[in-house]
Amino acid sequence: MLVLGIESSCDETGLALYCSQRGLLAHNIYSQVKLHRAFGGVVPELASRDHARKLLPLLEQLFSAAAVDKSELEGIAYTAGPGLMGALLVGASFAKALAWSLSVPAIGVHHMEGHLLAPMLEQNPPQFPFVALLVSGGHTQLVAVEGVGRYQTLGESVDDAAGEAFDKTAKLLDLDYPGGPHLAALAERGDAARYRFPRPMTDRPGLDFSFSGLKTFARNLIAQERGDQPLPSAQCMADIAAGFELAVAETLAIKCRRALQQTAMQRLVIAGGVSANQTLRRVLTAAVEKVDGQLFYARQEFCTDNGAMIAYAGWRRLAAAQRSGELAGAPQNLAVEVRPRWPLDQLPAITEVV
Ligand code: KG4
Ligand code: ZN
Repeated sequence: MLVLGIESSCDETGLALYCSQRGLLAHNIYSQVKLHRAFGGVVPELASRDHARKLLPLLEQLFSAAAVDKSELEGIAYTAGPGLMGALLVGASFAKALAWSLSVPAIGVHHMEGHLLAPMLEQNPPQFPFVALLVSGGHTQLVAVEGVGRYQTLGESVDDAAGEAFDKTAKLLDLDYPGGPHLAALAERGDAARYRFPRPMTDRPGLDFSFSGLKTFARNLIAQERGDQPLPSAQCMADIAAGFELAVAETLAIKCRRALQQTAMQRLVIAGGVSANQTLRRVLTAAVEKVDGQLFYARQEFCTDNGAMIAYAGWRRLAAAQRSGELAGAPQNLAVEVRPRWPLDQLPAITEVV
């Protein structure tokens, strides 16, 4: 089955072609970072317009890179939520119109399910069951995963998501949007031991997180260290970045180990933008080794938003729907449905092929 994936939930337009026999054939991503930089964050209306501007050229480029014809397509997967309403609508309308014109089914994919399954595009994919740590700009969740659509939330952030904490702390350090990767780069030059940030909510049982206090801790440190200057010295800023990053990584690692113990599972999958963070990967590798577990993650470019994860998740769901006969008449269904808010554990389970 040949599936086109379309991601447009936030500030990246991502397209990909996934073939069930040949794997990932081609993918491309257009990032809107430059467009939003002046505003210090994503401006939803500008994001929608830019998705509309970029989808068609990206589509043409994708098909020529993969050297396949549009008539060979057997299904289209698009991000239906969660995300920015306008941005989702652009992708969904585009997908539905294209599907109708080619008489193929279109399916709405949950963005976080896309992230969660992205490591399956790699050489050594994780087998079910596993614990997934989803760490993105909008979500921080620990999920027990028994199969596609068989998700049980074990814990989540009660305030800021991990990525959001990175972005907000980066702003305090006067770094450009999106702050996560910039803060990580600054932290490389810093001494993580100089400032001891708290490890929030690790001193009590449970698997929930709270990251908003770390940003406040950083704000207070900056105020304390800057003297009569607008900001502390470059070295001090790097040390704050490193201390912050290590605190996030170690807090996540403590909860991940707990989740593995609680579920008696051995495999840990990390996904979403923050899973690109090298310190997090290093700290989690060590934590998982201690419990004889295994850590899985996607290649760097498939940690942040991309079309490949949507094509892959869409293929799994389209193939299951095809097996159960649910796709009959699907190309004629032109209803454009998006869900800006959409809890992951509301997704239906699919029946796997045995
Ligand atoms: O998954 P994603 O691309 O978009 C959402 O679904 O939210 O995640 C974006 C988030 C942003 O908060 C970004 O700052 C963060 O992931 N991020 C990172 C790194 N790369 C992206 N955070 C820390 N270290 C990184 N290397
Ligand atoms: Zn995402």
